Amino acid sequence: MNKHINETDIQREIERLVAKGYESAWGSPDLRQIAKHTLEINRLKKAKNAVIAGHVYQRPEILLGVSDFIGDSYKLAKDCANSKAKTIVFCGVKFMAETAKILSPEKTVLLPAPNAGCTLSDSIGASDIKKLKDKYPGAPVVTYINTSVAVKAESDCIVTSANAPKILKKLYKKHKRIIFLPDRLMGTNLAKKLNKKIGKEIILWDGTCTVHEHFDPSTISHYKRAYPGLKALAHTECSSDLISKVDFAGGTSGMLEYVKRTNAPYYLLITECGLGELARSEFPNKKFIPMCRLCKFMKFTTLKNVKTCLQNPTKNQTINVNEKLAKKALKALNKMFELAG
Ligand code: 13P
Ligand code: SF4
Repeated sequence: MNKHINETDIQREIERLVAKGYESAWGSPDLRQIAKHTLEINRLKKAKNAVIAGHVYQRPEILLGVSDFIGDSYKLAKDCANSKAKTIVFCGVKFMAETAKILSPEKTVLLPAPNAGCTLSDSIGASDIKKLKDKYPGAPVVTYINTSVAVKAESDCIVTSANAPKILKKLYKKHKRIIFLPDRLMGTNLAKKLNKKIGKEIILWDGTCTVHEHFDPSTISHYKRAYPGLKALAHTECSSDLISKVDFAGGTSGMLEYVKRTNAPYYLLITECGLGELARSEFPNKKFIPMCRLCKFMKFTTLKNVKTCLQNPTKNQTINVNEKLAKKALKALNKMFELAG
């Protein structure tokens, strides 16, 4: 056993995890083993003046056991920027950790799973945007936060799933045409919502999220029949066919807020499985029907790699961004904060 941890500490830690809803989220696997890791990580965090940011798709033991901030891409970007800690350990995917570094260049930003990519981010490069700008001169480039630093640097404004409709609405007051990228499905959903013609008023790119693009809209009616009164909620990275059949569409924060403010007998959360696990721990008296898919990139983060990265981060786990590109990307991120209000 670690010299810092004794049996009483482990028992107390198990009780803390259970009180936070760990069992309702995840059943009862080896809580003892998990408690040993979370105790050690929380001790290391204090010793190293570090905080841990956990995206809502992370494993329950990361969210409930060691995260100081939990949220969607937008909330975590703000929380990391406002934090006074010297080091941020980002439990999420690479573009999220890079965003934290752009916003706080003076901080050390660590990504426990350096191979945690994202299919949306991988779908487009800076040269693709340059071509689009040449083709549609004057049209602002509005870019989903799920992109690389180089892509953000070529953009006029960044958006997240939580603020994309609001920001686009504001921008359409000044512009007739907007380039929105890289998520074609989210772009199509936005075009429908704002009544804009694809290819004319909104120019899209052909990127998709490998998790959300595969949900089958035809199954929703089966769930509705099987669970009377069920409310279906979907992430706006899903297809517009699916979005037209649900009761609520939005980002992960919007989905959780919807659950909080409504009182349905059942909720179907059509998104990555981590959100359902978090919802079960936050709302133990509500019933969640599973229809989810795993994002393998989000699940690359484990208590083990969080611990080793706090103990002795490798070069790959330490986020570095090109300074010149980061300055340009920061402008586009600040535009988002200004317009999101
Ligand atoms: P949110 O900002 O809604 O949490 O979405 C991030 C993401 O990667 C969705 O797949
Ligand atoms: Fe990227 Fe999709 Fe995974 Fe989100 S769920 S990180 S969009 S691949």
